[in-house]
Amino acid sequence: MKQINSYIDAVFHHEDALLEEVITSINENGMPSISVSPSSGKLLSMLISISGAKNVLEIGALGGYSGICLARGFGKEGKLTSLELDKNYAELAYSNLVKAGFGDQVSYITGSALQSLEKLALDNKRFDFFFIDADKDNYENYLNYCIKLADEGALIVTDNVLANGSVADHSVTPKRYTELMKKYNEVVANHPRLESVLMPIGDGMTISKVKK
Ligand SMILES: C[S@@+](CC[C@H](N)C(=O)[O-])C[C@H]1O[C@@H](n2cnc3c(N)ncnc32)[C@H](O)[C@@H]1O
Repeated sequence: MKQINSYIDAVFHHEDALLEEVITSINENGMPSISVSPSSGKLLSMLISISGAKNVLEIGALGGYSGICLARGFGKEGKLTSLELDKNYAELAYSNLVKAGFGDQVSYITGSALQSLEKLALDNKRFDFFFIDADKDNYENYLNYCIKLADEGALIVTDNVLANGSVADHSVTPKRYTELMKKYNEVVANHPRLESVLMPIGDGMTISKVKK
């Protein structure tokens, strides 16, 4: 899996000074190196531009790498709402989105994503694209909230669903969340409201379309 992803990134990823700066800012601030891979970021941009999504909800901002990729997908017309536990992370993410030219199209809600999602549901908010990339223990809860907040036909993308390949390859050391991901993938694959596929890009992403 590593070899295939290195190949994909080597052939398809073009140098991106802005995203490189984001990675540098994350390292300089002592934050973990857990942004999406360049190809995963590109996939997010493309899914948004292809689907025409304009109202995007991200769960897990870190330093804004995936946020910029999501915003690039909708360009000048669109809005990103991003949920992040850590106020300092959200501040860095916001400053990086400003650098990328999306400052007036993004809003960060800090604190527990579950609480923020509950508030968004109470406020009757609706979104047409979701990106789940926060604490794995809550993935299923996040999925249920996303379905609640989704317009018909909305896309829900979830990262890290291959857990470094350990969901399928027993020779790979299991991650803390390997079993969680196996269960999550079963739920996504069999959910009556979702039509889904798993793309083995980066650490694996499920892409689901919300049905009526
Ligand atoms: C994998 S990182 C996100 C990476 C980001 N999507 C990117 O690719 O640029 C996961 C993020 O989720 C945040 N997080 C963890 N638990 C959370 C929670 N309960 N509510 C909201 N955010 C949470 C972490 O602080 C971290 O910034």
